[in-house]
Amino acid sequence: MGKVYVFDHPLIQHKLTYIRDERTGTKDFRELVDEVATLMAFEITRDLPLEDVYIDTPVSEATGKILSGKKLAIVPILRAGIGMVDGILKLIPAAKVGHVGLYRDPETLQPIEYYVKLPSDVEERDFILVDPMLATGGSAVEAIHSLKKRGAKNIKFLCLVAAPEGVEEIQKEHDDVDIYIASLDEKLNEKGYIVPGLGDAGDRLFGTK
Ligand code: URA
Repeated sequence: MGKVYVFDHPLIQHKLTYIRDERTGTKDFRELVDEVATLMAFEITRDLPLEDVYIDTPVSEATGKILSGKKLAIVPILRAGIGMVDGILKLIPAAKVGHVGLYRDPETLQPIEYYVKLPSDVEERDFILVDPMLATGGSAVEAIHSLKKRGAKNIKFLCLVAAPEGVEEIQKEHDDVDIYIASLDEKLNEKGYIVPGLGDAGDRLFGTK
C-alpha cells in the first residue's frame, strides 16, 4: 500500500493556518500556497539520488555531491493545482510541467479527462501530481490513471489538505502511489467540501468566488 506522509514542519503548519483562515484574501492566499508548495517540495525531494563530483575549493581538492540528474515532471490537476507549480519549480527548476484537466460528468458524477499534455519522455520521468485538495479522491484517481496509461511509472501525489475518504480512495485504486500532505482533515461534508478545509481552493487562488 502507498504511504501517507504528513508534513508537520512548523513553517508549513503556520502558513497553512493562514491559508485556511477565511479572512485571507486572494493575494495572500496565493503567496502562502506558493510558499507552502516550496516547503513541501523540499521534503518531497528528500530521496533524490546524488552522485559524487570532484572539485577544487579555494583551499583544497574536495568531493562534493550533486543531484544525479533524475528527470522530474510536475503535473497540476487543473485548475487549482496550478497554484502550487511555481513554488515547486523554485527548488527544482529543471523539472518539466505537464497538465491534466478533468471535469465532473453532471449525470454520472465521474471525473472525465478533457485535457492532458505531458512531457514526451514520460517513461523516463518521475511524476509529482499536485492538487491543493484531496476530497473524494475521484479526480486524483482519474489523473493518476491518465498518467499511467501514457507510461508514467513512478508517481507521487502532493496536496495541502486531504480528507480520509480521498486518501483511502487513492490507496485502494493506486497502491503504488505515495501521498504527501500538509494536513489530514476530519471529513467531507454533504457538499463534498473538506472539513475544516479551506473552502474552494480554485476560487480562493484565482479570486473567482
Ligand atoms: N475542492 C476544494 O477546492 N475544496 C474542498 O473542500 C474540496 C474539494
